[in-house]
Amino acid sequence: MTALVDAPRRPTVWDTAEIADDFVMWDDTVGWLLGYPSVFEQLRLPEPEVRVLLDLGCGPGKVARRAAEDHDLRVHAVDLSPAMLAIAAARYGHPRVSRHQAGGSDLSFLDDASVDAAMCNFVFVCVPHRDQARAIAAEVHRVLRPGGRFAILNAHPLHTGVTFDSFRIGRPGATYRAGEPMPVRLRQTDGTWVDIVDTYWPAESYHAMLRESGFARTWQTVPLPADAQRWHASDVTAERRWTTERTTPPFLVVIGEK
Ligand SMILES: C[S@@+](CC[C@H](N)C(=O)[O-])C[C@H]1O[C@@H](n2cnc3c(N)ncnc32)[C@H](O)[C@@H]1O
Repeated sequence: MTALVDAPRRPTVWDTAEIADDFVMWDDTVGWLLGYPSVFEQLRLPEPEVRVLLDLGCGPGKVARRAAEDHDLRVHAVDLSPAMLAIAAARYGHPRVSRHQAGGSDLSFLDDASVDAAMCNFVFVCVPHRDQARAIAAEVHRVLRPGGRFAILNAHPLHTGVTFDSFRIGRPGATYRAGEPMPVRLRQTDGTWVDIVDTYWPAESYHAMLRESGFARTWQTVPLPADAQRWHASDVTAERRWTTERTTPPFLVVIGEK
């Protein structure tokens, strides 16, 4: 993908080989520092009653694999992109992870109340229409068991225009309305930046989608470097590169409980 000075205002199409090859190169270190561990904690993955996890919009499958490696559970890794699933199969497989090609609003291979926990990491920003997003939340609600939790991780929508270590959502000084296309920059592991276009959803949109889909309770959490000390053996936040992340939380996790 070429870096664009002025990104087109049309959301990125995710089911191509090109975007899959680009996304797997994203430097996701800050995601592993703060975002994904917060999701695992909110979903209570270490607890014995969480045996089946749905990773909807699994992309290259790194997070599904880590969940299976670190916890005693089975993972349904679902994505609409064959190219993402091919990377997941070739590079990030695990015996307890099964892969499925499906759009999030039709998980018909899963029975009602058959999963204990579900996550969508950086997925709703790829969904440009509210009805589509609500249909995904409703389908996750169907397959979750009563009391099960659904965690939605995204870049924090209040912090548009802020350049974090490996991404920036929105342009400095710009404001975005719910459902509006928003330029996003991702830093690759080789140091280059690529441009994509996401859809902007404020925190209230996620809470509303979850409530309208039947979730009994919703709340949100904002993982901070102080939390990371709970999740990582060494003080990984001591690195000088996390300057912005120390003062401005990069991620928002919105959770719904059935
Ligand atoms: C930004 S990537 C995130 C991948 C992964 N969750 C991670 O954190 O590494 C978003 C993924 O969501 C998938 N996706 C977008 N809309 C989807 C939908 N409606 N149903 C299933 N997958 C979807 C895309 O194909 C893409 O692989």
